[in-house]
Amino acid sequence: MKKSYKFALITAILCSFTQTLLVFIIMLIYGEIYAHVILGTAFTSFLLVFSIVQYRLEHLIYRRISKIYDDLTLLESTSFVKNQITTDMATLTEEIDKYAKNKKLEIETLKVRETYRKEFIGNVSHELKTPLFTVQGYISTLIDGAMNDPELLMKYLKRADKGVERLTYIVKDLDMITQLEAGSMTLEVEVFNIIEVIQNIFELYEMKAKRKNISLIFEKSHKLPVFVQGDKDRLQQVISNLIINSIKYGSLNGTTEVGVENLTNNKILIRITDNGEGIDKIHLSRIFERFYRVDKSGSRKEGGSGLGLAIVKHILEAHNEKLYVESVLNIGSVFSFTLSKALTDTQ
Ligand SMILES: Nc1ncnc2c1ncn2[C@@H]1O[C@H](COP(=O)(O)OP(=O)(O)O)[C@@H](O)[C@H]1O
Ligand SMILES: [Mg+2]
Repeated sequence: MKKSYKFALITAILCSFTQTLLVFIIMLIYGEIYAHVILGTAFTSFLLVFSIVQYRLEHLIYRRISKIYDDLTLLESTSFVKNQITTDMATLTEEIDKYAKNKKLEIETLKVRETYRKEFIGNVSHELKTPLFTVQGYISTLIDGAMNDPELLMKYLKRADKGVERLTYIVKDLDMITQLEAGSMTLEVEVFNIIEVIQNIFELYEMKAKRKNISLIFEKSHKLPVFVQGDKDRLQQVISNLIINSIKYGSLNGTTEVGVENLTNNKILIRITDNGEGIDKIHLSRIFERFYRVDKSGSRKEGGSGLGLAIVKHILEAHNEKLYVESVLNIGSVFSFTLSKALTDTQ
């Protein structure tokens, strides 16, 4: 039974009872008692009070509730549907409860994001500071007189240029990670030959590897092209970042090996192996966090943004692919990830 009916019923019973009692007392005073008048009064007053109270109540509750709905719809137009307006208090309470819970959840996520944002900005300025100060240092020294020495002029200009270059790729990485973490990046999925992509990356970093006398080896067990499905540019960046790391953290005269192997019917595994410095267990679980570096000072010399692996992880997550790492300190590291074979692939 609706709550409003119950309320109207009790009010009607009370009213008709008091009114009937009143009529009865008046009759007693006048000394004439008519049973049918008493019954009639009880009955009509019950009916009248019940209908009036019920009508007024529904009207009142309806008006109040539609106002609440209207107020809430202003805030969140999707949560409420106009034709669902009800005079039933229970439903309304439930709806408001649901609404409050949603809001609470929303506020909590916003709070988490806020801390994340603060932390991020702190990290960013920290990262930019070092190369910026370097550039400023060289330029100031030049202005202060070093520019009159042609040898120093060239040397310092080159160093300042290096600093600017470093700033540029930190900003590029920041831009990428911001896009990735905001979820605003859309994948441009296409079918492409992964072997070709790896070969191109090899050519790109050959010089870099040579400087440390690292051999880049492509484990080519299959001569045929391997067609995969994904965002070519992004996946190219994944492989680049992993190869750059393997060179950066690889030992002199070492090797970087890239392998492509069949995993399942629809997946392949790309593996990047090096015999470099390796990563200690305590750091292994954290290297994919943005700005995380094992050896802050050492890596700084190598000049990374600390975002490389965070970007790798994000891109692979966006592709719904898996990423694995195995590493032993002073022995080497293996980074591997899955890729989806192209559906049109004929093997
Ligand atoms: N192949 C690797 N061998 C050893 N350490 C690695 C390797 N790849 C990554 N690391 C460690 O993980 C950290 C995070 O890597 P990354 O996100 O690419 O940042 P960055 O290279 O800019 O320092 C590096 O600072 C390094 O300490
Ligand atoms: Mg890196």
